[in-house]
Amino acid sequence: MRNFTGRVAVITGAASGFGKAFAEKAATLGMKLVLADIQIEALEATVAELRARGATVIGLPTDVSQAEQIQTLADAALAAFGAVHLMFNNAGVLAGGLVWENSEKDWDWVIGVNVRSVIHGVRIFTPLMLAAAERDPDYEGHIINTASMAGLLNAPTLGAYNLTKQAVVSLSETLYHDLALVSEHVHCSVLCPFFVATGISLSARHRPDELANASAPTRSQAMAQAQNQKATGAAKVSAEQIAELTFEAISNRQFYIYSHPQAMHSVRERFEAIVEQRNPPDPYAGKPELRTQLVESLRT
Ligand SMILES: NC(=O)c1ccc[n+]([C@@H]2O[C@H](COP(=O)([O-])OP(=O)(O)OC[C@H]3O[C@@H](n4cnc5c(N)ncnc54)[C@H](O)[C@@H]3O)[C@@H](O)[C@H]2O)c1
Repeated sequence: MRNFTGRVAVITGAASGFGKAFAEKAATLGMKLVLADIQIEALEATVAELRARGATVIGLPTDVSQAEQIQTLADAALAAFGAVHLMFNNAGVLAGGLVWENSEKDWDWVIGVNVRSVIHGVRIFTPLMLAAAERDPDYEGHIINTASMAGLLNAPTLGAYNLTKQAVVSLSETLYHDLALVSEHVHCSVLCPFFVATGISLSARHRPDELANASAPTRSQAMAQAQNQKATGAAKVSAEQIAELTFEAISNRQFYIYSHPQAMHSVRERFEAIVEQRNPPDPYAGKPELRTQLVESLRT
C-alpha cells in the first residue's frame, strides 16, 4: 500500500508506545483512525491530542484478550468509516521470571493479551478485508502484528513473553502464506523490535485485578523486571522510529520488520544451531553482563 490518505487504520494498544506512534504517523498521512486500548484515560488523551491536530479519530475502550470486544471494535470501525485498510494487532504485556515460577494467572494474562488478541484480530478483521477486496478492485488491506525479537530468540527469564511472541510470528507467517493463496489485495507483516523505550516494562500498571497474583514477585521475576526496565529505558531506538520503519515496510509489502540489525546475529546463530542439531546458543552472548547478573543473583 502506497497511498494512505483517507484510508482507515485500526490500532490496538494505541494509548502508549508503538501504538500511539503508529496513530501519530497514520494521522500525519491523512488516515482515519480507530484507536483501542484498555487504559481509558490514556486513550481519551490520545484521541484528544490527535483531534486537536486535525485528525479524524475515534477511540474505543477495549480489552483485546476478549473476542467479543474485538468484534465490537470491528463493528465500530465499519460503522464509523465503512472499511478497514490497516489493522495493527499491537497491544501487548510483559511478564518475566524463571519459566516454572510464572503463575497460572501470569500465563492467562500474557497469553490473553499477546496471543488471543492477535488470533481474534486475524480471525475477525481478515474476512472483512477480503470482502472489501471482492467489492472494490482498488481496495488494499494490510495486517501488522507486533511480535518482538522474543519471537525469534528465547532469552532466559522471559519464558511467558517468548512463548507468546513466537506464537505471533508463527501465526503471522501462516497468515502470509494463506493470504497469498486467496488474494492480491490483502497483505501482512510481523514487527519484531528489540528494546525500545515505551511503557512495556510497566505492563503491570493495567493488569486486570482478576488476573493479579496473590503473592509478591519472586527474585527472578524482580530481576527480570529490573533488567527489562533498564534495557528499555536505555534504548536508543524510539517508538517514532519504529512507526517510520513499519509504514515503510507496509509501503514495500515487506513481511519481517526489524529495528536492531545487530540483534540478527543471535537469530542466525539460533537457527544455525537448530539446523545443525546443536544445543541452543546463549541469546545473551552479545551482552554477557546480563547473564552474569542473573547467575549471580539467582545462585546466591
Ligand atoms: N518496547 C519494546 O521494547 C518492545 C519490544 C518488542 C516488542 N514490543 C511489543 O510492542 C507492543 C506494544 O508495546 P509497547 O512497547 O508500545 O508498550 P506500552 O506499554 O507502551 O504499550 C502497550 C499498550 O497496550 C495496551 N494494552 C495492554 N493490555 C491491553 C489489553 N488487554 N487490551 C487493550 N490494550 C491493552 C496498554 O494499555 C498500552 O497502552 C507489545 O505487543 C509489545 O510486546 C515492545
